Amino acid sequence: MHEEPTLRALADRRGIGIGAAVAYGPLVGEPEYARTLAREFNMLTPENVMKMGPLRPARDRFDFDQADALVRFAQEHGMRVRGHTLVWHNQQPAWLTQGNFSRDEMLAILKEHIQTVVGRYRGQVYAWDVVNEAVNDDGTLRDTVWLRTIGPEYIELAFRWAHEADPAALLFYNDYNNEGMGAKANAIYRLVRDLKAKGVPIHGVGWQMHIRIGPGGYAGLEAMAQNLERLAALGLQVQITELDVQVQKSQAPMAERLEQQATLYGDLMRFCLAHQACTAFVLWGFTDKHTWIPGFTKHEDWPLIFDREYRPKPAYYALREALAGGHTTTHRR
Ligand code: XIL
Repeated sequence: MHEEPTLRALADRRGIGIGAAVAYGPLVGEPEYARTLAREFNMLTPENVMKMGPLRPARDRFDFDQADALVRFAQEHGMRVRGHTLVWHNQQPAWLTQGNFSRDEMLAILKEHIQTVVGRYRGQVYAWDVVNEAVNDDGTLRDTVWLRTIGPEYIELAFRWAHEADPAALLFYNDYNNEGMGAKANAIYRLVRDLKAKGVPIHGVGWQMHIRIGPGGYAGLEAMAQNLERLAALGLQVQITELDVQVQKSQAPMAERLEQQATLYGDLMRFCLAHQACTAFVLWGFTDKHTWIPGFTKHEDWPLIFDREYRPKPAYYALREALAGGHTTTHRR
């Protein structure tokens, strides 16, 4: 049974976005999935259907049906959409990766892609993950088809073209393992600082935060605060864009693991609420029934806030308590 208030009602009151990644299949196939999503979240991110592979089966053919359906669902339920993602090295169509295109052709493809997709959802997608995962853990730029053919300026061009196609959309650089103060986060800081200095339209940095319970499971609140403050000093927002919390590696009894998971969810929500620059808190799914983690790690897991029967887990109640202001601890330095 579910009791009021919902996460979404509390988040609205606090002026923060609370979202979840959404998969098309369960959205149309499982009434409980759609009901829970609309009840608890004021924001959604398409988990896959706006990526270039699914969206663009051939160079001259876009398939917008499923993306349109997700956007429509969001509109019908008063939810904002985070578009994900325009430039990435995964889930790319084979015609692109095997096309042996020249630099000029790749520039044309990228430009037409961004203009077509951002243009179609102009005024309907409030924020875009323009470039996803372009930086390696050591801080160098990732070797992708975009870097190889166009060069490092593909990043700045992507932001400029996205801005042209929808001047009102917020534009994000998004990555994982980038919430703290390590080599990757430092490189991303320098990247976005240099973009800002050049007048490139960029409005924020996304921290995916695919994290786990236990020591070293993420960067920690102090490093996050330090990183957020330097990004905020550039005038940028920070959003938690893909949060899930793995428990598979712990040996503790499951009830204990789920309590640790809940503590983490609550801490992160309080962190976000304590910092003006943290404007959204998005989970990568919401029910353990539909999570990418087992497919990714090859192990069973329970990383989200509803169980497989759509019952709220301790992590759900921890988010609710944080949003309700039950604890006032902040970790600001
Ligand atoms: C994942 C999806 O959840 C899976 O369904 C898909 O098979 C692979 O991609 N970082 C990202 C997301 O930016 O797009 C990824 O989503 C998870 C990691």
